[in-house]
Amino acid sequence: MTNAAPAAPPPVKLVQFKINGRPMQVPAGTSIIQAAHAAGIDVPYFCYHPGLTPAGNCRMCLVEVSNSKKPVAACVTPVAENVEVLTDSPGARKAREGVLELMLVNHPLDCPICDKSGECMLQDHTYDHGPDHSRMIEPKVLKATKDLGSKITIWGNRCIVCTRCVRFCDEVAGTGELCVVERGDHSVVDVFPNYPIENPLAMNTVDLCPVGALISKDFLYQARVWNMRRQSSICAGCARGCNIEIQTIRNEIKRLMPRFQPEINSYWMCDYGRFDYKYIGTEDRQLRYRLVGSSGAVSANPAGIGANFALRLKNIADQHGREAVVGIASAFMTLEELYLFRRLFEQLGSSRLAALARPMAAEERFKKFTISGDKNPNRAGVELVLGKGRFEGALKEIKDGMRQGKIRAALVIADLPHQSLDEELAQLLGKLEFAAVFLLQQDPRLAGSVSIMPATTFAEKTGVMINEDGRLQRLQTAVQPPRRVRCEGEIFQEILVALGERDRIHSPAAVFQQMGEQGVPELRGLSHREIGDQGLVLKK
Ligand code: SF4
Ligand code: SF4
Ligand code: FES
Repeated sequence: MTNAAPAAPPPVKLVQFKINGRPMQVPAGTSIIQAAHAAGIDVPYFCYHPGLTPAGNCRMCLVEVSNSKKPVAACVTPVAENVEVLTDSPGARKAREGVLELMLVNHPLDCPICDKSGECMLQDHTYDHGPDHSRMIEPKVLKATKDLGSKITIWGNRCIVCTRCVRFCDEVAGTGELCVVERGDHSVVDVFPNYPIENPLAMNTVDLCPVGALISKDFLYQARVWNMRRQSSICAGCARGCNIEIQTIRNEIKRLMPRFQPEINSYWMCDYGRFDYKYIGTEDRQLRYRLVGSSGAVSANPAGIGANFALRLKNIADQHGREAVVGIASAFMTLEELYLFRRLFEQLGSSRLAALARPMAAEERFKKFTISGDKNPNRAGVELVLGKGRFEGALKEIKDGMRQGKIRAALVIADLPHQSLDEELAQLLGKLEFAAVFLLQQDPRLAGSVSIMPATTFAEKTGVMINEDGRLQRLQTAVQPPRRVRCEGEIFQEILVALGERDRIHSPAAVFQQMGEQGVPELRGLSHREIGDQGLVLKK
């Protein structure tokens, strides 16, 4: 056998052509719309979507080409050698105006009450390319408004039958619930009788719908889209780390939307992640401080918490030995929080650290999307910053130590959504000399001797997490924590200041850099800015 070098990939065949008089070359097989968009030339469309196979049914993308007497659909026509494409000629504009006039024949004037208003492609294209009046005097064809499933309603009158939603169910989810029923101007999207659209990717069809035909029941009449603030971040629903946008009004999350990331989630996200922000505003969220002093006095004022905790932890470590003081982190903490947590215990001289995680579930595979079975967004981060083996085994050792009376003090981060502390740990914490818990949901099982602080959520903090593929990605603050609630990282730093490790509180971006320089060499030279909105893969 020879050690021949692998064969070079075949050369890409390029096609030369002109678009609006400008010479261009693109790989053979590129559609006119892709070539135009790559050149920054606007060709309007409805049914085309870069994440789906082209269907060529709406005709909104008509352009003139030198090798055809009639306008052609740019989304399904590949660029041909030496062809001349005109996207903005009078002929192309007239053809598109005609398409829009036809589309508006039966489309209702719903914009003032339509959820899609403000991000509707029909509104935008009508404004830019449509006729300025209607010749329509006949009554419009009416179609039903009905539920297609528990999450989605179709407003049939608004459907332009682009089939994006149908293709999504066939090509990405692979579940095929949607189809077009009826003929001609009665055509509309529907489900098969008794087979509602309930798949865990279903809500992507609402995002995809270019008009307000598919409507999210959850978002219906919740906001006018132009009033919302949009913050790039990542989903914390599982270890996949889908890129998302958190959309808010007046510090309240209104919806999560997928953000394009070709390496992870493409244009999509799952419905578990999409709706998994509601716990942020529920009534059982822990919002009050309950700080128990060494004399047993209880205070709800977090001022001075750092100095108080530092003193108590240090006293116990001095009296009973370093390993009598333990920390239990979580796989929902950012790298910065984990690093500060680790530094805190390094200062106290203890290496007894464990971490909480939600249990593994079955991975869910769809045709072109996978939902991870690991329901923790930063398990890889815990392993990088605290070291491997910090989950079940380390937790069991700590619980054994508590039971045997060897462990006297614990700082616990119980910020896992939908999962409270296990019964045994909740009981054991009440028996310690000092226990302080950052708590997401209220937990009446914790004894009165345990100090409680509210924990913050993924939408309320800035920091970096590592997904299951080893990609560093930024969480960014989309909403401020509720009144008086302070981020964990700030309180850890306050304790570190009291322990003499640092002189002041630093931003998450600065903590990230310190981590690279001083504690986690794998992150050396990296920064929040470099990670950016698209993340980057951690070098092995
Ligand atoms: Fe297109 Fe929306 Fe109609 Fe589906 S419901 S075919 S996405 S317009
Ligand atoms: Fe969130 Fe995971 Fe769903 Fe992506 S796959 S949206 S990360 S829960
Ligand atoms: Fe080309 Fe619909 S976008 S035909």
